[in-house]
Amino acid sequence: MQGAFVVFEGGDGVGKSTQAALLAEWLTDRGREVIRTFEPGDGPVNAQIREILLSRSTENLAPRAEALLFAADKAQHVHAIVRPALERGAVVVCDRYVDSTLAYQGAGRVLDMAEVERINWWGTDDLRPDLTVLLDLAPEAGLAGIASHDRMESAGEDFHARVRAGFLALAERDPARYLVLPAREPVTALSERIRARVAELLEGEHHHEVGRRGLLSALFDADRDPEPGEEVSDAPARLSP
Ligand code: TYD
Repeated sequence: MQGAFVVFEGGDGVGKSTQAALLAEWLTDRGREVIRTFEPGDGPVNAQIREILLSRSTENLAPRAEALLFAADKAQHVHAIVRPALERGAVVVCDRYVDSTLAYQGAGRVLDMAEVERINWWGTDDLRPDLTVLLDLAPEAGLAGIASHDRMESAGEDFHARVRAGFLALAERDPARYLVLPAREPVTALSERIRARVAELLEGEHHHEVGRRGLLSALFDADRDPEPGEEVSDAPARLSP
């Protein structure tokens, strides 16, 4: 059985965990081995990194240090959990992955997208999701449902608006690998749409090793000259500092 890597992305409080759990249950019922996991923090080393990243007692963490710690969490997570599961033929259902760091540290903290991307694909040894489900919601609506805000959730309205725009821009650039859904839809309607798309994925051939490195670097590198015949939009430039 071929493994598959399905990632849930979106802002805080959009309902990723609920949908990931429903998908995992459905896949298990269909006889698949499913590994439900998340970033940041799954695993002993990762839990320590998560504590540094999210604790409100962490003061004055430099944006580049923050980006490197999130990338370290991903490197360890892929090495210890995700890749071994995919190699056994499991379906890995993961809350957040590289798009989160592109949206939060790249668009949110306004670090150079291509640089953030590079350290993350290096850290993960280029492991790409087969499908990313992006649950889109206005940040004020998502954050309103969270009782006590961690360090990232406390980053402010403008930050979270940039994060949302960052996620949507990533999905727009590579639509074949994304399912973008309005997170306000009822839970059951969303889960049905997600199941249908994942069923399609599992029936077809999928290659989680096939890279987008060139595509994303090109998109977010505003200074790069286009290749002959390449279509270039101005959206990536808006995401660059
Ligand atoms: P998450 O565990 O989804 O939040 P919670 O358990 O509180 O619902 O993610 C923690 C926070 O970390 C969230 O605000 C998003 C942020 N984050 C990044 O900034 N970069 C990343 O690469 C990842 C994975 C998460």
